[in-house]
Amino acid sequence: MSELNKIALKIISNGKGILAADESTGTMTKRLESVKVHSNENNRLLFRQTLFSSQAMKDCIGGVILYDETIRQKTSDGRTIPELINLSGSFTGIKVDTGAKVLAGSIQEKVTEGLDGLRERLKDYYKLGARFTKWRGVYLISDKYPSDISISANAHALARYAALVQEAGMVPIIEPEVLMEGNHSAKDCFNRTSEVIKKCYEELELNKVDLSGTILKPNMILPGNNSDEKISEEDVAELTLECLNKSVPSSVPGIAFLSGGQTEIEATANLNKINTKNNTNFIMTYSYGRALQQSALKFWSKNLNNIIGTQEIFNHRAKMCTLAAQGKWSESLEKTS
Ligand code: 13P
Repeated sequence: MSELNKIALKIISNGKGILAADESTGTMTKRLESVKVHSNENNRLLFRQTLFSSQAMKDCIGGVILYDETIRQKTSDGRTIPELINLSGSFTGIKVDTGAKVLAGSIQEKVTEGLDGLRERLKDYYKLGARFTKWRGVYLISDKYPSDISISANAHALARYAALVQEAGMVPIIEPEVLMEGNHSAKDCFNRTSEVIKKCYEELELNKVDLSGTILKPNMILPGNNSDEKISEEDVAELTLECLNKSVPSSVPGIAFLSGGQTEIEATANLNKINTKNNTNFIMTYSYGRALQQSALKFWSKNLNNIIGTQEIFNHRAKMCTLAAQGKWSESLEKTS
């Protein structure tokens, strides 16, 4: 078993999942302003530090993805953020792409950038304590999208990123996110997501990436958020499992879903159903941003000093997700714990 495979497994085994706290300063500012909190370095640190010192970090969170600003910050007692994360036995991750930019030759689509100078940045992140990384490609669905250029350009970038990350001794999270925006059907999402993921693995294999030392972070199969189609958790689970079973090579140890705009409960219920029906050899867990932090952020915004209260909300959400990652969640538990 390779060292990278061991790290990947430690992050996602036994119901543990990933806290995606890697919002860029722009995105974090939007999140904070939505609850009327001023976005400055100190407030961004305070909220994140509150989550990273919670009990859930020990019980539920195998890894935390950070943004560049956060990995360099220190807590009030002088510890670095990676030291704080490691204290609870969790791994530090870092988002290393530099964002999605308009793709030349395709009007609305984007390609993710960040390969220039990546080898040097990775060395720096390793020294700062990172042991895994994330790179997110984004894809639109419409009658003409995702285009072939978008599928191949993003897959190529993801594969070159992953090869460099493994060379630096870290586990790459491969995140091809087929966006929920639009009025497409679940079947369209299934077809497009399958195509996107297959292309990523073609490129990853070409770039000689050791798949056993990677984690896939995909979207679940859902209808677009402007579609009238309603589908059951059962259908979401079946379509998602079928898509991943057909598109992901068996050497990949695990899959950690993004929440992508689902509510906290939807993201939990769908993950739970996926695990009750999981007929694959893949571990299926979570790597949620909004679906782990939304309620905690709302509560915290009312009193930035209520650390314990905020942690209780976060502990509950993480516990529910960890139960869902084992197929042991039910809606009644939302009220009792
Ligand atoms: P969401 O769970 O909020 O979609 O965020 C996950 C993530 O890391 C997106 O890149």
